[in-house]
Amino acid sequence: MATRNQNQQSAPLLISPTYAHVVGWGMAVPENVMTNDDISAFVETSDEWIVARTGIKERRIANEQESTATLAYKAAQRALEVADILPIDLDLIVVATSTPENIFPSTASLVQDWLNANQAGAFDLSAACSGFVYALNMAADSIKAGSIKTALVIGSETMSRILDWQDRSTCILFGDGAGAVVLQASEVQGGVLSSILRSDGAGCDLLAIPSVGSIDADESRAGSNGHQLFKMYMVGSEVFKFATRVVNDSIDQASKLAGIDIADIDLVIPHQANYRILQSAARKLKIDIDKFMSNVDRYGNTSAASIPIALCEAIEQKRIHDKDHIALVGFGGGLTWASMIIKWGIPTPSEQQGSLLNRQRRNLLYYSAKWRSRSRRWRRRVSRTVQYLRPKRGRVPRLIRRVDEEERL
Ligand code: ACO
Repeated sequence: MATRNQNQQSAPLLISPTYAHVVGWGMAVPENVMTNDDISAFVETSDEWIVARTGIKERRIANEQESTATLAYKAAQRALEVADILPIDLDLIVVATSTPENIFPSTASLVQDWLNANQAGAFDLSAACSGFVYALNMAADSIKAGSIKTALVIGSETMSRILDWQDRSTCILFGDGAGAVVLQASEVQGGVLSSILRSDGAGCDLLAIPSVGSIDADESRAGSNGHQLFKMYMVGSEVFKFATRVVNDSIDQASKLAGIDIADIDLVIPHQANYRILQSAARKLKIDIDKFMSNVDRYGNTSAASIPIALCEAIEQKRIHDKDHIALVGFGGGLTWASMIIKWGIPTPSEQQGSLLNRQRRNLLYYSAKWRSRSRRWRRRVSRTVQYLRPKRGRVPRLIRRVDEEERL
């Protein structure tokens, strides 16, 4: 007679595959608009030159109260609203950025705290303008592997803070903003189908922001090669050639990996660097330029934020439908590039009706996050003071015991 154990061993293991679907999205851009004419007031350039070479007409610039983290936080709140989930449901928060709030703590950790997402891990990812696709791939793979269920992936930048506003070849190109998506596990076939991530570090001198630890660093805060610390420099024409080469190659590879033809792609959401790069990619891939989402004219290049912002606007403009194949493609500093094919699945945009109760619970969590954070910092400060004053031997005061216990949790 077969034992229960033997029966269990002979039975085929039936585990249905898990897919990673985009179930929420949101964006946030500063209100301040800077037009090409505004820029031509302080560097030698013109609206005609910028529009003809890049397609950019204006960009958004953060004010003093706005930062990479505050924009990320706003975009995240909107994405949670659309997904109609609570911050405590998040397992992971990743912020793709080249302009982090600090080297550490990560921008993602600040967002985690402000959202009151106290069950989530958080980290920043640095892959320049390809960062959002890299981050989405990391989160999707973690979901498919079963280690997490729900992730918040954000691209957020304040490029205006690292531009050399005297350098007309770069300052005309960039803007500030943030976009976020909620990625969730589902048994419904689709979601993120494939990703291609690539890097060519030999191109490190074409596009960079020298920073802490840079071999260029010296006491005058200018590199030996003349590059300023914490300011972006770019060899535009070389980056242009690289971008036009890799965009079509990587979309082609990601499509093959997903088992679809290029002709099956319904919409391409590329990194918004320059409209001429999109025209060149469309020509080479033989995809109608109308299938390329572009809003570079209104926001310029927002680096890691440009793809999620374009995704949000494509949804808003009803350019994405159920079962559509969407191609995301990013390219930039590193050099890095990345493509991804998503089969749009659940839910359709019309189904996005957040419940009133959940909205109130989210608002309560955001509100209490501020007080929780403040009171934790206050208790740590008191604890440090009491520890300083405390006699070396003797009973541990109650307040210290409480703080110590909370620290362990
Ligand atoms: N206004 C007027 N003239 C200008 C300006 C300007 N803002 N900027 C440059 N010029 C001049 C140059 O000085 C040069 O003059 P010269 O011939 O007398 O020397 C001339 O215009 C041509 O310069 P190029 O650099 O060859 O111009 P190009 O046609 O390549 O356009 C641009 C420049 C727009 C920067 C383009 O190279 C580009 O878009 N590159 C790609 C940028 C990109 O995709 N970046 C993505 C990654 S960003 C990231 O990862 C953070």
